[in-house]
Amino acid sequence: MKHVAVLAAGVVAAACAYAKPNAPVEAQSAQSTPAAARTAVARAQFASDGKVARPTNWRRWVFVGTPLTPNGLNNGSAPFPEFHNVYVEPGAFDAYMATGKWPEGTQIAKELVLVRQNNNENIGATSEVSGRGYFQGEFQGLELAVKDTSRFATEPGGWAYFSFGHQPQPYAASAGAFPTEACNSCHETNAETDFVFTQFYPVLRDRK
Ligand code: HEC
Repeated sequence: MKHVAVLAAGVVAAACAYAKPNAPVEAQSAQSTPAAARTAVARAQFASDGKVARPTNWRRWVFVGTPLTPNGLNNGSAPFPEFHNVYVEPGAFDAYMATGKWPEGTQIAKELVLVRQNNNENIGATSEVSGRGYFQGEFQGLELAVKDTSRFATEPGGWAYFSFGHQPQPYAASAGAFPTEACNSCHETNAETDFVFTQFYPVLRDRK
């Protein structure tokens, strides 16, 4: 036992000798991935007519948050009366968590989900076994943001915005980019981190 203790002390001393007390440490949250283990950024697929293909697996991307703007809190007619489930493509997520910047090729999907209709009260809330509140109902649309500063060189920040329909499934198989003023402008003005509303996504805020 004595031998083991001496050996352990020696290992600690050796480790300390190599540590540089003032070496800069890359800011990382508990969720970030070391560079060697990061997933590569997967790029969106564009056809020759410039339309982007609907991603095939966005519900397996990294889920970062769900803003909710229900009709019941917007005088009965919110522009988007749904939960907004936001998913980041895993390669872009890894890069963002490591650097705080959105890499070239970033894709972020926002899937709209209606508030569950059950025993609705005047503000659209329902009572379920866990309590009174808002619960997710049916899928109601899919949008996508893509950062590509070469393909979208004329869009502010290189970000383009797409919708595969504001409706129940099936969603459209492909979509063309919206004009700048339809989507990009509001994101440019109001979003916290390079056109992305990180202020509303706790998983992304946590890296700061
Ligand atoms: C008036 C401002 C405004 C406009 C216009 C707008 N958005 Fe957004 N968008 C938001 C806000 C706020 C969020 C984040 C929270 C939420 O969903 O409520 C968001 C989030 C998103 C996200 C998730 C990634 C992110 O940046 O946070 C996508 C994708 C998206 N919007 C697509 C679109 C598309 C497509 C259009 C155009 C049809 C559009 N947006 C127009 C305000 C806007």
